[in-house]
Amino acid sequence: MNILVTGCYGQLGHEMQKIAAKHPEHQWHFTDIDSLDICDGAAVEAFFATYAIQACINCAAYTAVDRAEDEPDLAYKVNVEAPRRLAESCLRHDALLLHVSTDYVFDGKGSRPYREDDPTGPTSVYGQTKLEGERAIAETGCRHCIVRTAWLYSATGKNFVKTMLMLAENHDQINVVCDQQGTPTWAGDLALALMRLIEHYGNQPVGEVFHFTNEGVTTWNRFAEAVFEIAGKHCLVNAITTDQYPTKATRPAYSVLDKTKIKQTLDMEIPDWKDSLRRCMEELTI
Ligand SMILES: NC(=O)c1ccc[n+]([C@@H]2O[C@H](COP(=O)([O-])OP(=O)(O)OC[C@H]3O[C@@H](n4cnc5c(N)ncnc54)[C@H](OP(=O)(O)O)[C@@H]3O)[C@@H](O)[C@H]2O)c1
Repeated sequence: MNILVTGCYGQLGHEMQKIAAKHPEHQWHFTDIDSLDICDGAAVEAFFATYAIQACINCAAYTAVDRAEDEPDLAYKVNVEAPRRLAESCLRHDALLLHVSTDYVFDGKGSRPYREDDPTGPTSVYGQTKLEGERAIAETGCRHCIVRTAWLYSATGKNFVKTMLMLAENHDQINVVCDQQGTPTWAGDLALALMRLIEHYGNQPVGEVFHFTNEGVTTWNRFAEAVFEIAGKHCLVNAITTDQYPTKATRPAYSVLDKTKIKQTLDMEIPDWKDSLRRCMEELTI
C-alpha cells in the first residue's frame, strides 16, 4: 500500500515513522509542512496523484491549545479546511483517511468515560476546530476512521512529560492541577493502533469514530508524580485547582474516553498508562 503520513515531525508523526520501519511491505511517504502543507489543496491532490496514495494518516494539526484562542483563523485552516481537502483527495483516489482528533470535543462535565456517540460540546477554539474537522471529513463521504485521543506525549516534541522533567532540573517543588481527570497516552501506542486500523480496513468501506487512549485514569498532578518517580527525581508536586492556574483555553474537567469500540474492533488490549510512560521514558534523553 502507498501510505502518506502528514505532520511527520510531530509527536505522533515520529512514532508513525518507527512503526513504518517495521512494515517495509508498504511504501511510506513521510511529509511535514516543509514538504507538503496540508492547507495547500492543489499540492495535496498532486501528491495523491503522483504517488497513487491508498491511505493517509493525518498527524498534522494545529495543536497549540491556548494560542488557538488568539489565532482561530489559522487553527480553522489547519484543523478544518485542510482535513476537508485531504478527505476530498482520499475520496477521489478511493484512499482510506485516518484522522486524529481529541477529547477536547467534549465539555468535560461527564462522570463516566465518553463514548464515541456521546454529545459533543467543545469549550475551546482548538476543540471546536477539531470537532468541525471531524464533521468536514465525514461530509465528504470518503473512507475514513477518526480516532480521538487525549493527553498525548512522546520522547520527541513538546509535551507534559518533558516539561515536568525540565522543571525538576531547577525546582524542588512545583504546582500542578489536581482537578482534571484523563488518561495520559503514549504516541507510540496510538501509532500502533492506527497501523492496526489500516490493516483491519484496507480497501473496505468505513466511516467510523473511535476513542483511543492508554488504560487507566489519573490527574495531572498524579501524572507529574509518576514522571518523577520513574525518573528518580526528587521534586514535590503541590496539588492546585484549575482556578489557581488560569489558562486562555478552558480544559475539560473530565475527559476519560471509553475505548470499548476500538478494543472490540481490533481485538486488542491497550497498555496501562503507567507502563507506557515507563517505556517512553526509557527513550528520553533529558
Ligand atoms: N498533543 C496532545 O496532547 C493531543 C491530545 C489529543 C489529540 N491530539 C491530536 O493528535 C494529533 C497529533 O498530535 P501531536 O501532539 O503529534 O501534534 P504535534 O506534535 O503538534 O505535531 C503536529 C505536526 O503537524 C505539523 N503541521 C502543522 N501545520 C501543518 C500544515 N499546514 N501542513 C503540514 N504539517 C503541519 C506541525 O508542524 P509545526 O510544529 O511546524 O507546526 C507538527 O510537525 C493531532 O491531530 C492532535 O490534534 C493531540
